Amino acid sequence: MLNLLGLPIAASTHAGEIDDLIVIVHWLMAVLFVGWGLFFLYVLFRFRKGANPRASYVGAKGKISKGLEVGVAVFEVILLVFYAIPGWAKRVKAFPAENEAMVVRVVAHQFAWEIQYPGRDGKFGRTDPKLVTADNLLGIDRTDPNAKDDIITSNQLNLPIDRPVLVHLSSQDVIHSFALYEMRVKQDAVPGLAIPVWFIPNRVGEYEIACSQLCGLGHFRMRGFVNVQSAADFQKWMADQEKELQPASATPTASANP
Ligand code: CUA
Repeated sequence: MLNLLGLPIAASTHAGEIDDLIVIVHWLMAVLFVGWGLFFLYVLFRFRKGANPRASYVGAKGKISKGLEVGVAVFEVILLVFYAIPGWAKRVKAFPAENEAMVVRVVAHQFAWEIQYPGRDGKFGRTDPKLVTADNLLGIDRTDPNAKDDIITSNQLNLPIDRPVLVHLSSQDVIHSFALYEMRVKQDAVPGLAIPVWFIPNRVGEYEIACSQLCGLGHFRMRGFVNVQSAADFQKWMADQEKELQPASATPTASANP
């Protein structure tokens, strides 16, 4: 549909569906606004004092008004039952299988996004709030075997195109909100919960992670970046991250096995 509303570019497979709903709702509101406005003007004229010296206390009895109201209600129910609920159900029920999806943890804290990739073993290493330091904002426990190959980035989420992404979203402190406008993704990050979020990016490009909940004084600068890449570029990026990981993880491994 025509992008009269100035929506951001659509960069995920379900974006069109959400945009359709937004556009239909706005059309409905536009029709109601114009309709009610015209009716209001008509009533001002029709029931002016000059034509009706005595007020009527009975009110309107026409069938048209009742029919219109029922029509609007039915249309709203159709939007809810056939667009909104099925669309939402897909977001919260039809998750991609973990072995097919790009699985990543996103942890919000004041005021940044920490990203954890499970690495080649496909298993996330243990994290512990007690281990959080300035150098280890995620609090990862590198002594955990599953953690050795985990890739961690700050405010930088790289994703391959056309592959389902399954984000396990959580927060270390207060409620934040993970918003990828171009992917039409928005989900609160709540401390104590790991909330799954999924989508399929389908447009190569650089986008933003915005925090959409007022979470403190630094809320305005809680901004991350999403880079949707071709499969080859993503592999290359991942390989570079793994190379950077080597020296850091080599030292504790060597000392752990004397
Ligand atoms: Cu985090 Cu606003």
